Order: sequence, then structure tokens, then C-alpha cells
Amino acid sequence: MITQLGHNTKTLLGLPIIGNTPLLLIKSLSTDRVRIWAKAEWEQPGGSVKARAAHAIISAAIKTGQLNRNISLLDASSGNTAIAYATLLHNLGWIPTICLPSNASSERKALLTALGVKLILTSPLEGTDGAQEVAKEIYASNPGAYFYADQYSNEANWKAHYLTTAQEIWRQTNGQITHFVAGLGTTGTFTGTGRRLKELGDVKLIALQPNSPLHGLEGWKHLNTAHTPAIYDPHLADVNLEIDSDQAFKMIRFIADHEGLYISPSGAANLIGAIEVASGISDGDIVTTIADTLERYKEVHKEIFGI
Ligand SMILES: Cc1ncc(COP(=O)(O)O)c(C=O)c1O
Repeated sequence: MITQLGHNTKTLLGLPIIGNTPLLLIKSLSTDRVRIWAKAEWEQPGGSVKARAAHAIISAAIKTGQLNRNISLLDASSGNTAIAYATLLHNLGWIPTICLPSNASSERKALLTALGVKLILTSPLEGTDGAQEVAKEIYASNPGAYFYADQYSNEANWKAHYLTTAQEIWRQTNGQITHFVAGLGTTGTFTGTGRRLKELGDVKLIALQPNSPLHGLEGWKHLNTAHTPAIYDPHLADVNLEIDSDQAFKMIRFIADHEGLYISPSGAANLIGAIEVASGISDGDIVTTIADTLERYKEVHKEIFGI
């Protein structure tokens, strides 16, 4: 996977095109009657699902005049959103200001540095909740200098998935999807995709969380012990499941062996959730997402593959 700094095809605002990712049949986890599908979300500018939310947040802010070359986009991120902001804004020559927990992987920090991002490293103990507090303080100290994007509360985040991810899944499955499974981070993917799929058809929604506050599923939140994102809708899911990080790590290896795909911990955890759903039905098409690849998780790679 190559993180695209420039991109030839641009939208009206000068930003790269996002979305339209392939929907892959995960054959090794499917039977003739129950199929598991995964959106290859790493195939976007910046290499992750976050291209969708970042594109929507930036476009809306430019249109309303909240963001321009003299006002820096400010947000807290565990890494992927920051990389998406930086990659998209690079096309305009603009530089975001990002509050990032200092224990974010060195690959992410290296990439953000290469993209010229103004990085503010925050407490490793407080995760993205702590990074959000620091971002709020920076904004309050100089509101004229920043557009505080606040992906956890920004409606453009879930709307991006409502308008793109859900439509793509509906089209790619010819309306045959029966279940949508997704882990909760900012909750944008689950909320936006789920809301639209429920309008389009009889689709069951399964929300996933880590099964403990200390977990290895980067990008996900353990909602009982973390700040609940403002865009989270607790009434949307038909079923809530908890996923174990060790099981997800084993799934990374299984998918590398059987599908030749190099998926991230949260993507593997989504597949564990999909398998659990599959075990309870006799017919269906279960769709989930793979947010990014394992290239951003060298430590996890070492733990799984031993080198
Ligand atoms: C690797 C990874 N997986 C999953 C998610 C969750 O997506 P969302 O924020 O849309 O809930 C994120 C979000 O940052 C992520 O970085």
C-alpha cells in the first residue's frame, strides 16, 4: 500500500476522490449459503477508511467558510484520521494541527511527520480522550486561528458513510445484504452506514466493541470506560458484541494465510464479529469493513509473525 500524497483525479474543491472501494468475498470464512464480505477501505487516499470522514469534514468546512488557507484544521486522532486530513489537505497546500497520543505507533508518527503535520503529542495514558481535551484547550486559546474539526461530534463524519459507504454496499450486493457488522471508534462508520442501510432494506446492524478497556484494537473505543462520541446513537444497533484482541490477532494470521490479505487488528476484529453472526443464521450476506492494513502496526506484526 502506498500512501498517496498527490492524486490525479480531484473533486471540485481540489480534493482527491474517495470511496468506491472493492467489496471482497472472504471465501475462507464463507459457505454457499452464508457469505462474508469486506470493504477494502485501505484502498483510498491516506490508506484508510478515514478518507471518507476527512473528505466530508473538510469539504463542509470549506463550503461554510470555516476552513481556508489561513485557518488550520485542528483535531484529535489516534492516527488514521490525521493521516487522511494531511493527505487530502496536502493537495491544497494546507497543513493540519493534530493532537495525537504519544504512544501512537512510530509508523503513524513517521508518516505524519513526512506529511508536514503540526503534531502535538498528548498523554499516552489518556488515549484519544486526552488528545481531545488538549485540542479543545488549543482551540479555546486561539479560536480565530483554527477550525476545530472534532470528528467525534462532527455530523459530516457519519453523513460521509450514509452518503457513500452504505450506497456502495447496497449497489455492490445488489441489495442482498442481510447484516452489517462494524466496530465503534468515533462511531461514524457504524452510524452512517447503518442508518442508510436500514432505510434501504431489512438489514440487521451489529455493533462491536473491545471486551476490555485495555485492548489491541487501535481505532476502537471501549464505550463503557471512554468518552462516548456525540454522534453515537445507542438505539441503532440490533445486536452489540464484544471482541477479544487475541482472537483478532489470530484472525490476522488466518486471513494472511488463506486470503493473502494483510489486514489490521480492527479489520480482523470485524471479521470475528461477522463469523459470530454467521454462526447464528442459515442464509445471508454479511458485510463488514477493513479500515486499514497491518503496515501501520509493526509491533502487532512482530507479535503475530515473530519477525
Ligand atoms: C483502524 C481503525 N479501525 C476502525 C476505526 C473506527 O471507525 P469509526 O471512527 O468510523 O467508528 C478507526 C477510526 O479511527 C480506525 O482508525
